Amino acid sequence: MSALRELKIFAFVAIVVGVLYWGVEPLAHSIFHPKTTPADFKFSDLEDLPTTGNAENGKTLATTYCIACHSIEKDGYPALMTNELAASVYGVVPPDLSNSGAIYDGKFLANLIKDPVKTLKLSHKFNDSKPFPMTPTPISDDELGDMVAYFKELAADTKLSNKEIFVEACVRCHSVKYDNIVALTPSDTIAGYMGAKAPDLSMMIRSRGAETLNKFINDPQKTLANAAMPRVGLTQDSQEKVIAYLESVGDSKKDQRESVGKILIGFMIIMAILAYLWKRKIWHDLH
Ligand code: HEC
Ligand code: HEC
Repeated sequence: MSALRELKIFAFVAIVVGVLYWGVEPLAHSIFHPKTTPADFKFSDLEDLPTTGNAENGKTLATTYCIACHSIEKDGYPALMTNELAASVYGVVPPDLSNSGAIYDGKFLANLIKDPVKTLKLSHKFNDSKPFPMTPTPISDDELGDMVAYFKELAADTKLSNKEIFVEACVRCHSVKYDNIVALTPSDTIAGYMGAKAPDLSMMIRSRGAETLNKFINDPQKTLANAAMPRVGLTQDSQEKVIAYLESVGDSKKDQRESVGKILIGFMIIMAILAYLWKRKIWHDLH
């Protein structure tokens, strides 16, 4: 008799937990994190341009078309202006291109050189009356391949840490207070240039979560309509490292918390078994 009652109670608890776990939680999740397509590291919306070619010629092209604004330190082309001056001239400090072939996707790079505004998904912010600082480069598609080949070759042997990739890709706009990183471009200058301040990223991993960040960085427009931030164009590997870095800053106790969680669950299971054995013993004596 009592065994049946216990079974009923167990079934009731199991159903309540099941409804919460498979029903309510996913529902809440889908409201807080609306379903969007996953991050697209193939950049399917972009043109299939060549990403290989003659690196030698690519270097000639890069030194013709890029170094007026960008440094390529690794190949001996330093910045022509201080960061301060560059920020006030362009609205944002143009990044050094030494490692661009390693951290950015090749197809993205070719498209960026051909049509920056479209590739960065910024046409709602920049147009003929408000021109984007980086202009389209008037070269053939084959020459785009040459240039991408040059940047890939230049970066072939670079090994960057998670933090170094983050600094290259994000710090011209964003600060990370908790890691003493100050954005290269002053935040008011960014706001004047893009129409929104770039927030400090120290705690972003906590407020947004890794999954949302992964989609956002890959394509800001997808999760934030009319976002001021350009699409960054990182390869999947680089982007995972950027998120790992943000995790290490904003959620440094994550590993610890997860291992404590496992210990706690083990502890509860042992306690449940002990409680059950104890109960059986008491009832046994009473009968
Ligand atoms: C007139 C100045 C100018 C020229 C010329 C120029 N750029 Fe840029 N570039 C910029 C500025 C400014 C940015 C930063 C824009 C931003 O982040 O909103 C930028 C950004 C970039 C980025 C980073 C894109 C990203 O996804 O974050 C790459 C890569 C790049 N440029 C490559 C090149 C290459 C290659 C050339 C030569 C073919 C070139 N640029 C020519 C001004 C220039
Ligand atoms: C050219 C400047 C620029 C670059 C480069 C840039 N961001 Fe941003 N970012 C912005 C701006 C501006 C905003 C504010 C967007 C808005 O309010 O529309 C923003 C917003 C964000 C947000 C907040 C999104 C939200 O949900 O509120 C995150 C997270 C973020 N950026 C991460 C990154 C990471 C990671 C990188 C490097 C991989 C990066 N950003 C590179 C300018 C930039």
